Amino acid sequence: MNYTICSVDQLQQPGDCLIIGYFCDTGLAPSAKVMDDKKHGWISEFIEGEGFQGKPGDSLQLTPAEGDGYKRIIIVGLGKSVELNAKAFRKAVRKAAVMLASTKAKNVFCTLTEVYVLNQDNQWKARQIAQHLTASTYSFNQLKSADKSEQKLQQVFLLSVNQADNQAIETGVAQGDAIAQGMHFAKDLANFPGNYCTPTYLAQQATELAGQCQAMKVDVIDEEEMQKLGMGSLLSVSRGSREPAKLIVLEYKGGSDDDQPVVLVGKGITFDSGGISIKPSAAMDEMKYDMCGAASVLGTLKTIAELKLPINVVGIIPSSENLPDGYASKPGDVVTSMSGTTIEVLNTDAEGRLVLCDALTYAKRFNPAVVIDIATLTGACVIALGKHISGLLGNDDALCQSLSEAGDAAGDPVWRLPMTEDYDQQLKSNFADVANIGGREAGTITAGCFLGRFTKDYTWAHLDIAGTAWNSGKAKGATGRPVPLLTQFLLNRIN
Ligand code: BES
Ligand code: MN
Ligand code: ZN
Repeated sequence: MNYTICSVDQLQQPGDCLIIGYFCDTGLAPSAKVMDDKKHGWISEFIEGEGFQGKPGDSLQLTPAEGDGYKRIIIVGLGKSVELNAKAFRKAVRKAAVMLASTKAKNVFCTLTEVYVLNQDNQWKARQIAQHLTASTYSFNQLKSADKSEQKLQQVFLLSVNQADNQAIETGVAQGDAIAQGMHFAKDLANFPGNYCTPTYLAQQATELAGQCQAMKVDVIDEEEMQKLGMGSLLSVSRGSREPAKLIVLEYKGGSDDDQPVVLVGKGITFDSGGISIKPSAAMDEMKYDMCGAASVLGTLKTIAELKLPINVVGIIPSSENLPDGYASKPGDVVTSMSGTTIEVLNTDAEGRLVLCDALTYAKRFNPAVVIDIATLTGACVIALGKHISGLLGNDDALCQSLSEAGDAAGDPVWRLPMTEDYDQQLKSNFADVANIGGREAGTITAGCFLGRFTKDYTWAHLDIAGTAWNSGKAKGATGRPVPLLTQFLLNRIN
């Protein structure tokens, strides 16, 4: 997306669309008022005529007469001017972006930078606007024979009230646009079906990504090498598949040599049938999304490479299919993980933790500052938190706190669940060190406890994105989450 920063004087330019804000109490935002005055008050007249209240998330579209400046004006509600907080602002921005996407506008002039948002600066506002406007242009048409892609938004003019704000707005725009591009990449990978998006394909995509960035290198570990490393748990998941498993390791070095890296570990199951513990067929297609953790790691790396963030980040993606076969793992099988811990596989559908545990053990060699794994790990998390908030578990209060704050700032929230000894006891096995399932109760927590057994040597958190990574039903498709959260978390570590 092309972004240009403009002053109030440039508002009168003819264009496809203008986005303005409206407060419940004080009416039109300042620059919109200027516009309105120039147009003899017909914007405010229209708003009043429609009985528009201006509550956050409310919106209105105005189509002025031909030849009268903008072809379309989108008015979004901002609530009470003194109460405008991050959440309400983002709601308004998102609404404007969604409305804009339903039009044929190729350019837009957005004035929402001008309003005061509690506890947020110009950079943050610009970041939100750019992220949502760029993200609104996403569509997935690669596999449709007729090219359904329409003319899309190409140019955004963003208002800067004071010259002194230009730098902050520019930085925010670059961040927002890069986040949207990372989400775009994550969505494409996730929406690609399992017959295209295999572990090998993910490895190719990672290799391509690393090829585009001087500061990034990639290492793809194949099954033979995994065998040598003792990754019996990861390999046990791949046994039933004809597609070879891959362990993808990306190293982004934006910081200095002695900076300990943030390690991101993403579950990369490119299709999860459940294996011998096979899933019911209803909605099984959605299990192509079982690599959304991996996609978010690749998306985040794309974003931070684009922004050239001065930080070291390692991405580790254990990738495999989970399929039934004569050679597949069976319930009751005992496998030995890279850490030496033996695991009784009581349910082959609890495969995510089996691939993650070996990747988490592998993570140690990078001397990580923190390790965060991201996984569509449990259906129980969808029941507990729905599709609005991702699950968070971890062994360190400070890390969990900063992830939680980053999630709120990025509009990509998480909620921490408890992880006490009692839950861990549910994983007892009569035949191995640990069982891979902990019973029906607290499924998200026992999954976290399982991972917790492999992360004792470092600061660690786990994000369960089973509910938040994709939408079902009519709007079926990947969301690109939690790229915004992870990027915000990394940005915060730099500042
Ligand atoms: N990928 C699934 C988790 C999942 C299920 C995500 C539904 C989104 C929607 C995972 O591999 C899985 O099958 N988990 C099992 C664990 C159980 C066997 C302990 C589950 O949640 O049912
Ligand atoms: Mn499963
Ligand atoms: Zn799975």
